[in-house]
Amino acid sequence: MAKTKKLIIGNWKMHPNTHTDASNIFSEIKEYASGLQNVQTVICPPFVFIDKLAQEYTGHRILFGGQDVFTQTSGSYTGEVSALQLYSVGADYVIIGHSERRKLGETDEVIATKIRIALGNKLTPIVCIGESERDTHGEYLRFLRRQIEKAFSEIKKKDILNVVLAYEPIWAIGKTGDEAINAQKLHETSLYMQRVLREEYGNVIADNTTIIYGGSVEPNNAEELLREGDVKGFLVGHASLEPKAFNKILEIANNIARS
Ligand code: PGA
Repeated sequence: MAKTKKLIIGNWKMHPNTHTDASNIFSEIKEYASGLQNVQTVICPPFVFIDKLAQEYTGHRILFGGQDVFTQTSGSYTGEVSALQLYSVGADYVIIGHSERRKLGETDEVIATKIRIALGNKLTPIVCIGESERDTHGEYLRFLRRQIEKAFSEIKKKDILNVVLAYEPIWAIGKTGDEAINAQKLHETSLYMQRVLREEYGNVIADNTTIIYGGSVEPNNAEELLREGDVKGFLVGHASLEPKAFNKILEIANNIARS
């Protein structure tokens, strides 16, 4: 992806219920997103829909991602999905370590392994980190630092450049736009994450790693967060299932990238 492009990722979570609905949502997004030069759109539907949706659009302006991947590349692991299987049905990205999966018991160690496996098997990991609440002593910043260090503990330093780091404060996920983070807080946190990357992995990594934001991104806050938040894109949850709202976010990102 060209560095100036904005990266807008839709995380559909466990929605919708049928392929017909998935296809309808996607076709409205496709119509708009496929015309945008300055945005890389990525749609992360449930595993079962990726294959067919990927056949509905074969250009490069919209790419696909899984919402999780297993720690092993193949074998007797009932119910799991491997990186190469995802790739083979049309995924180029995969979300790893989303807070909703961490809540189900996924540990930092498992996440580190999944990141290594994804990178080794043609997928770009979208690595989610984020605190559940903010304290006034800055403990949440140390928490973020630990999440970053642990996530990258199994990969080579240079491979961090192939990772998308998604800052998703848990307290801001699934709320309305008003309750999302404000641009100033996001800017501060993004600078802090860059500082951690600089201290741990050096200037090249700090200056070139793609950091995006997720947590109640909607059309009404997207412009401010993207202009002032010091992030290169968004991971959008509920608004990515509403084509009009998602397309508006894409439009905002496209205009900012162009200006
Ligand atoms: P949200 O979800 O946009 O609905 O807050 C973001 C996410 O969980 O990735």
